[in-house]
Amino acid sequence: MTILVTGGAGYIGSHTCVELLNAGHDVVVIDNFCNSSAESLRRVQKITGKSVKLYNGDVRDAKLLTKIFKDNVIDSVIHFAGLKAVGESCVKPIEYYDNNLTGTLVLLNAMREGGCKKIVFSSSATVYGTPEKLPLDETCKIGGTTNPYGTSKYFQEIMLRDVYASDNDWTVVILRYFNPVGAHESGLIGEDPKGIPNNLTPYIAKVAVGELKEVGVFGNDYDTHDGTGVRDYIHVVDLARGHVAAIEKIRNSGVYTYNLGTGIGYSVLDVIHAFEKACGHKLAYSIKPRRAGDIDSNYADASKALKELGWKAELGIDVMCASLWKWQTMNPKGYNG
Ligand code: NAD
Ligand code: UFG
Repeated sequence: MTILVTGGAGYIGSHTCVELLNAGHDVVVIDNFCNSSAESLRRVQKITGKSVKLYNGDVRDAKLLTKIFKDNVIDSVIHFAGLKAVGESCVKPIEYYDNNLTGTLVLLNAMREGGCKKIVFSSSATVYGTPEKLPLDETCKIGGTTNPYGTSKYFQEIMLRDVYASDNDWTVVILRYFNPVGAHESGLIGEDPKGIPNNLTPYIAKVAVGELKEVGVFGNDYDTHDGTGVRDYIHVVDLARGHVAAIEKIRNSGVYTYNLGTGIGYSVLDVIHAFEKACGHKLAYSIKPRRAGDIDSNYADASKALKELGWKAELGIDVMCASLWKWQTMNPKGYNG
């Protein structure tokens, strides 16, 4: 099958391109490189020995989208392109809503015109807001998001459901990711955040390599086993394989929603200690005040994905940390080093 991957040069997109190519699919990417570099796709080609067809452009560019569907016979779209920084979305809500919502609308319109009605969408556990119960399953209520990024994911899910309601030929697969971490085992592709990382594991990696002094642990008075925040960290390669399973297993039209997580929650201190094992030395950390908007715990019930897609996460926290450490040490300055 030929799959259009929007945002395919990004962190999750590049790992998904590898898994799609390895599974024998053809891959077309559109990316404007606002948060990535073309080097990631060169490395995808190096890992797989296969080529990716690239369109350098914006998903909000309707003309370009029309051209892509004219030039290629696209079976399905995996839609990663979007802005994703929670804090930045509070400062730039207009840019976030424009990029994420307009981008999805322009894409859906071009898909309709091009006769391609199957989309896999990158949603997030953030749509659950404050969890009504744990583990979270797909029937839990969504909404109550606390930042424009999360709200944009919630709105996009609604938009996709409305499109299906208007035309039952569509196949919409909504994947709600928990916390993607780690890197490809080759060490050639990984997460390359610009500036000081906001997320825990890239921050830890920079402390481990000596670029940052210590990890700030945001709060130790949460209702968790050691007082620090608990999350469901999922290896990015497992996550990528979840997309391949969704593309291959879902053949009928409809709206399908799946949590992609491991079902296991680790605290901030658990992750720091797992990373110490991976890098072979102790890591400096200190307790800081809570970060606004954070919740105690978040982890998935991922049994629906196992039952319906035959997918489950296979790689544990030690592999996540070891692969991130390999990526960090092989690419201390990311792709542009
Ligand atoms: P990323 O920033 O690494 O990848 C996104 C890619 O989309 C980048 O290559 C960027 O250049 C591109 N892009 C952004 N806006 C674009 C536009 N208008 N036109 C063309 N390309 C554009 O992020 P990621 O971590 O790989 O996330 C991929 C998707 O998964 C995003 O939609 C994100 O919101 C979602 N998601 C990520 C996480 C996470 O923790 N990483 C968690 C849940 C959901
Ligand atoms: N944390 C620290 N210190 C840091 C960074 C994070 O203690 O320097 C803590 C946080 O307080 C939280 C945990 O580590 O308890 C994980 O934080 P991240 O920022 O890595 O991840 P979040 O769970 O806040 O959010 C991430 C993505 C969101 C996505 C969500 C899905 O950033 O976009 O996972 O569950 F929606």
